[in-house]
Amino acid sequence: MSKNSQKNRTLTKRRGKVAVSVVREDTPEWGAVRTTAPRKYRTPSVALNRKYAVTTVSDAKKIAKNWLVSFNLENAVDFGLPEVDDRYHVWRVPLVRQGTNKRVGEVVLDAYNSMVLAEETTKPDVIESRLLGRTSSTAAKSGQTQIPEQMQASFVRNTVILGDCELALLEMPSQSVDLIFTSPPYFNARPEYEDYLTYEEYLLKMRRVIHNCHQVLCEGRFFVMNVSPVLIRRASRSEASKRIAVPFDMHRLFVEEGFDFVDDIHWVKPEGAGWATGRGRRFAADRNPLQYKPVPVTEYVLVYRKHTDKLIDWSIRNHPDQHAVKDSKITGDYEVTNLWRIHPAFHPEHPAVFPLELAERVVRYYSFKNEVVLDPFAGTGTTGRAAVSLNRRFILVENEPKFIEVIRREMLSWLGGATKHVLFVGCEPPDTSGLLF
Ligand SMILES: C[S@@+](CC[C@H](N)C(=O)[O-])C[C@H]1O[C@@H](n2cnc3c(N)ncnc32)[C@H](O)[C@@H]1O
Repeated sequence: MSKNSQKNRTLTKRRGKVAVSVVREDTPEWGAVRTTAPRKYRTPSVALNRKYAVTTVSDAKKIAKNWLVSFNLENAVDFGLPEVDDRYHVWRVPLVRQGTNKRVGEVVLDAYNSMVLAEETTKPDVIESRLLGRTSSTAAKSGQTQIPEQMQASFVRNTVILGDCELALLEMPSQSVDLIFTSPPYFNARPEYEDYLTYEEYLLKMRRVIHNCHQVLCEGRFFVMNVSPVLIRRASRSEASKRIAVPFDMHRLFVEEGFDFVDDIHWVKPEGAGWATGRGRRFAADRNPLQYKPVPVTEYVLVYRKHTDKLIDWSIRNHPDQHAVKDSKITGDYEVTNLWRIHPAFHPEHPAVFPLELAERVVRYYSFKNEVVLDPFAGTGTTGRAAVSLNRRFILVENEPKFIEVIRREMLSWLGGATKHVLFVGCEPPDTSGLLF
């Protein structure tokens, strides 16, 4: 589906937050057409043994129907018999022309997390073409110039969303974002809130968010994540504290979700910045071997590219706005190495902001002017501020109303009169009546 044809799709507001359920309970059963199961597929009982999230044929159909609804195709096709393929841990839901068993495509679901796998699922425009009896070469023969979907300029305007980014991302048009820059919530940084009971649960959430980010990001474009190991403080004097290498687990998620690793940039803070953790103090006093613990003064800035066979040169040459490409050239000094020395930032109302300078570097190096930058874990909206200062657009998603309040308030100074044109989803726009322009 082209971005333009999705122009009129809106983000759903539900109970003040963006909400989409992957399986809608009210979805009626569809008249399934039985197909003969190929031998390699096992019966759904294997789904139970494997502890998949999707365990029944009926659930698989409901999820597939939900996906069809987002492309207005739900009334155009019937389902064949969904089958679980435990070699790849997926469910395959065949799509057939209504009233026949003529196959027009399939929806492929990740059996563990119930997400639709876009790369393996038949593209909606291909399903449409097959239903209309067109061949994919029809448009080409008509003489129209075909602009690849990923090369069309995104129409999305500056947007602030209050809600869980995992769900909000599902409501966004595919390939409508040119760059993602974020820093995820810290695992167990605030144990009193019990956000994630286990580290595995935290990683599963991050996987679903990365998966959904993949859907909205244009092919061949960048996802940059600021992340660092976390310290789990000891519960008692007899226990040791523990460090979890979150960036390395994130790396695995990125690769498994269809991103190619590009760079590991180290954000270096001035020495002394890490003393607050108390990490090096014991060794400084006793000087015993084995007790040595360096004070961390770096954080990772991991750079990934959504997988594509095309070279970066191709993306630049085929960019739809060559004027913006020219205008976005990075002149003067730039960071030559992967050591970026930047002072940390502090915010009186947020415990973990990243510096505007860090966000500005990422936005400048990995996007062109006028493009759309998404931060799914927006906090106080630093990424949006960097995007605006460099003439880019932004989409900010944050699930804590108190941080959305900070974005709404501070935006008046960094965006000025243009705040009037921002789309607020799940929250009210700020009062702009006092603005002069
Ligand atoms: C590390 S902070 C980001 C701070 C931000 N970079 C800044 O400079 O202000 C992570 C943010 O993600 C938010 N968050 C956590 N889970 C979320 C979710 N599921 N959806 C949206 N935001 C979430 C937290 O409330 C927190 O503000």
